[in-house]
Amino acid sequence: MAEFKLKIRRYDPESGAAPYWDEHTVDLEPHRSVLEGILQARNEKDGSIGVRCSCRAAICGSCGVRVNGKPGLACHTHLDDALASAGEDGVIEVEPMGNMPIIKDLIVDMDAVHWKKIQRVTPWLIGKEPVPEREYIVSRESMIDVTQSMACIQCGACVSDCLSMEVDPLFVGPAALAKTYRFVGDPRDAAHEQRLKDLSEDKHGIYDCTHCFKCIEACPKGVAPMNQIMRLRRIAGNDFHIKDRNNGERHEMAFVNNIEKNGILHEADLLPDSYGGKFHPRAVPELIASLPIVVTALLRRKMTPGKALLHPHKAPDGVKRIFEIVEGREERTEFNLYISGTDADNAPNAEVAEAIEATEPAAVAPDGTEGSSA
Ligand code: SF4
Ligand code: SF4
Ligand code: FES
Repeated sequence: MAEFKLKIRRYDPESGAAPYWDEHTVDLEPHRSVLEGILQARNEKDGSIGVRCSCRAAICGSCGVRVNGKPGLACHTHLDDALASAGEDGVIEVEPMGNMPIIKDLIVDMDAVHWKKIQRVTPWLIGKEPVPEREYIVSRESMIDVTQSMACIQCGACVSDCLSMEVDPLFVGPAALAKTYRFVGDPRDAAHEQRLKDLSEDKHGIYDCTHCFKCIEACPKGVAPMNQIMRLRRIAGNDFHIKDRNNGERHEMAFVNNIEKNGILHEADLLPDSYGGKFHPRAVPELIASLPIVVTALLRRKMTPGKALLHPHKAPDGVKRIFEIVEGREERTEFNLYISGTDADNAPNAEVAEAIEATEPAAVAPDGTEGSSA
């Protein structure tokens, strides 16, 4: 047995009182969970601590909290691990998850945010017609492919830390979009295109994610929601050729074309290319609107007129080679832990890795400064 200090964030919106921290010492074996620590404090010290749990085995998804600022499952976080990530005072901080309203203490309103978003994406299979007399036959690979998104236990940890959702609370969000891939990746579903069109045209849909990786770090089940979102984008853009009215697909392609042309990101081209090129009627109002930002960047010496107007970089041969390899493939290679195992097992990527290695020194700009690399 060892003593652990828990500092629990307490808040009861109905009381009208401000939130506060409440500290308790619990006595448990180090491999016991933070949830057991909270329950001991509640059972022995203060019965009013609000916490939600059920399975205590990382299955039901009800005990999502933030431990030392990071979201996760309280029942799946050992006290000794939590202590290792605690501050110098050795106190383990437990708070409610973010991006969702607090009902009481560590209990957040999942209905108001998480479940509402899950409902938004039609979270059930729309079966293909004609319905077979017996079961639909699906290849083993197809089912393995959706296993990663099926591993979700709806704990909301990814929603808690999603940076886009913090800025845009209407963003459909990582959990609901991972759920969408569960059906878009399923050959039995009849609504792939409708689902993708809907979430491409929605300005809070698949193009509202900013690739911050937070949901991948947060997920206790390895669902990697951001990867599922990127797969949705690739299927929407490359397979169904959906050009959304929010310009999401064009913006993404502008990055790809920019790197293919320059080897490193030439930001001055990014905005016009996202709108079809400098002289495209769609680009003109956007370029005019961005003038104050350009002036500020020039004044702060973040860019020079030469860098803004000219193209000091040309993609080195290694970058061109990477594009040739990837674009020359008959099938798109999707990295999926459930299928591929590790990068090293993923043979087609070995060729790309070799090309990247051969290219790395060229990612330094001619003036000696390092740019954003591919
Ligand atoms: S990667 Fe996208 S979905 Fe995931 S947390 Fe960041 S913004 Fe949200
Ligand atoms: S994707 Fe992961 S973090 Fe998000 S709700 Fe599902 S299990 Fe939880
Ligand atoms: S109590 Fe079920 S996941 Fe933690």
